[in-house]
Amino acid sequence: MTAFHRHAGSLMSDQKTLTSLAEEFGTPLYVYNRGAIEQAWQEFARALHGRPHLICYAVKANSNLAILNILARLGSGFDIVSGGELRRVLAAGGQADKIVFSGVGKSTVEMEAALEAGIRCFNVESDAELERLAEVASAHGVVAPVSLRINPDVDAMTHPYISTGLKENKFGIGMAHAMDTYRRGASLASLEVKGIDCHIGSQLTRLAPYADAVALLIDMVDRLDSEGIHLSHIDVGGGQGIAYTDEETCLDIGSWAKCVVQAIGDRKLEILVEPGRYIVGQAGVLLTRVEYLKNNEDRHFAVVDAAMNDLIRPALYSAWQAIEEVETLERESQIYDVVGPICESADFLGKQRTLSIAQNDLLCIRSAGAYASVMSSNYNTRARAAEVMVSGNEATLVRAREEIDALFANEFLLP
Ligand code: LLP
Repeated sequence: MTAFHRHAGSLMSDQKTLTSLAEEFGTPLYVYNRGAIEQAWQEFARALHGRPHLICYAVKANSNLAILNILARLGSGFDIVSGGELRRVLAAGGQADKIVFSGVGKSTVEMEAALEAGIRCFNVESDAELERLAEVASAHGVVAPVSLRINPDVDAMTHPYISTGLKENKFGIGMAHAMDTYRRGASLASLEVKGIDCHIGSQLTRLAPYADAVALLIDMVDRLDSEGIHLSHIDVGGGQGIAYTDEETCLDIGSWAKCVVQAIGDRKLEILVEPGRYIVGQAGVLLTRVEYLKNNEDRHFAVVDAAMNDLIRPALYSAWQAIEEVETLERESQIYDVVGPICESADFLGKQRTLSIAQNDLLCIRSAGAYASVMSSNYNTRARAAEVMVSGNEATLVRAREEIDALFANEFLLP
């Protein structure tokens, strides 16, 4: 099953044409497909079947409550990075005891909320955080479950901005020091050392970096074991890449699981995994309407009603996402830069794209289920776009378009 397909010249999601969705809900519009989200999650479940495991969806990729709810119904766990994401998961019906809490800067208030909720594990990223967590747990008379995020110093071979497992990155605890941090953690009565984790980067399309990282973690598990520090889980992070271009292939989840399982061998460790992009990336698109076509000398521009505030990946990472006509119509073909209305030269969604379009036509930006709506902003006082979930012949509004008045409702004039 694919989330989006073309039928009689029209792009569709299940039984709905994207044109009908744009007409009903307006543009710019994020459209998600429920079946595709469920199917991507099931790929992990199938691949890890037979081994104790927990799929902790990385909420940051797309935190819409409807998406979290779909995953909660499948029995998913969640990887959160803030008190805000904790609140979302709980509001969407997620189970607290299936939540892991990642991130380098957890505040005391966030730790308290997570302890109160009874989350599964804190993925601790520094000595200072370990000490603070121990104090907070102790003050509340509880024991905090802990994993240490190891920075294995492996090259994830991805874009430098989304690589996280190198020494130069701010994430995790260095290999050389981690044993000491474990010893300290094990000595504190308000902490229970449960696991080990890493996350080496995002949009990984090769297995080798995973194999290297997991091997390093397993070596540490064994060393800890010989010191009497017994871990019950290994969390291998997320990062499973998708195919943004026709030339790319996504990471094969079956092969990925085999590689992880092989490295773990017969050790009694539950496997945790934190995929974000892989679950939702291809299950979403951003629909936008062409406002104007214009030429500057020999450059052609399609000015559309979506902008970098709706999808910042092209501006931020020079990311390439496919752009297609929603309807196949008789139009002259031209090479366009697809740009938004924002007053920045970085406000482009795609450059040098061959498109057959006219004013008012609809365009579809693919692979916009992950790191799109969640990274949107109100720059230029633009309201955030609406979000719709399609399943079969039903389309449900899962986030209303923002009202302009609401954008400045929390601002005040001077007395
Ligand atoms: N776990 C941790 C600790 C993470 O930091 C991340 C992503 C994930 C899991 C999920 O990674 P995924 O499976 O989605 O690759 N905004 C960037 C991606 C930033 C990823 C940050 N961390 C982009 O648009 O490409």
